[in-house]
Amino acid sequence: MESLSVEEIELILDTADSLKEISTRPIKKVPTLRGKTVVHFFYEPSTRTRTSFEIAAKRLSADTVSLSASTSSMVKGETLIDTAKNLEAMNPDAIVLRHNSAGAPHMLAQLVDASIINAGDGMHAHPTQALLDMMTVREKKGRLSGLRVAIMGDIAHSRVARSDIVAFVKMGARVILAGPPTMIPKGIETLEAPVTYHTREAVKDADVIIVLRIQKERQQAFLFPSEREYAQCYGLTAESLAGARDDVLILHPGPMNRGVEIAPEVADGPYSVILEQVANGVALRMAILYLLLGGAR
Ligand code: CP
Repeated sequence: MESLSVEEIELILDTADSLKEISTRPIKKVPTLRGKTVVHFFYEPSTRTRTSFEIAAKRLSADTVSLSASTSSMVKGETLIDTAKNLEAMNPDAIVLRHNSAGAPHMLAQLVDASIINAGDGMHAHPTQALLDMMTVREKKGRLSGLRVAIMGDIAHSRVARSDIVAFVKMGARVILAGPPTMIPKGIETLEAPVTYHTREAVKDADVIIVLRIQKERQQAFLFPSEREYAQCYGLTAESLAGARDDVLILHPGPMNRGVEIAPEVADGPYSVILEQVANGVALRMAILYLLLGGAR
């Protein structure tokens, strides 16, 4: 998200808006990327990102191949670089990569000629998630500039948080971060997003609340006493939503820890656009593939 200009972000979102309609047709397929090959290489588990990238590529008629760490020769000790060079030898047009190391997609982009699309790298970035979040908010609110966007939860371990902060700030939103002190990384304020440790302060007058998953698998130490206590202090409930704007939108990138960072009545309630995020993920990823592979690079 750092390298994209406001105009480039708007182009991606406008393209996604126009491609969304294809998924509502009886025949959900156009020939735009016929003859192109997209490799989906997911070194970490995924439900939404992997499925939506694969559906997006298929709806544009690209040929797709899927590879995971456990089914690739990486289990025999092959390095990521050798894996990528071998994939490159088969001349794909794009490689969609999810990896547990920050910077892995950036490194591959220096080494191979195919377009490398970051589908989430470690705790660093998840740019297509930030783009689909912005698409969903813009669709509902008609704008991004001037909105008050609260990002709540495990900021420290969240690649979604980092990409969302950069993206929403760049588009003129006012971003506020909230979570327990143990989950707020030092220096995060340099991204122009003030920090509070109080849920009510973050929620007050919010137009958009992005709730983040507690990433237990990335935590090296116990960062909160118990899930029950976390839910009481930092979980978004119908009660803690009280100070938000009447037309607040609730987003969550998934997967959710129901009853921990978000109460079921909020996740399934009238302000939630969580499944609309998932639907928009297909259109947004169609736009990325189209813009990278559909014309001149
Ligand atoms: N939002 C997201 O990245 O979900 P998955 O891990 O299921 O892809």
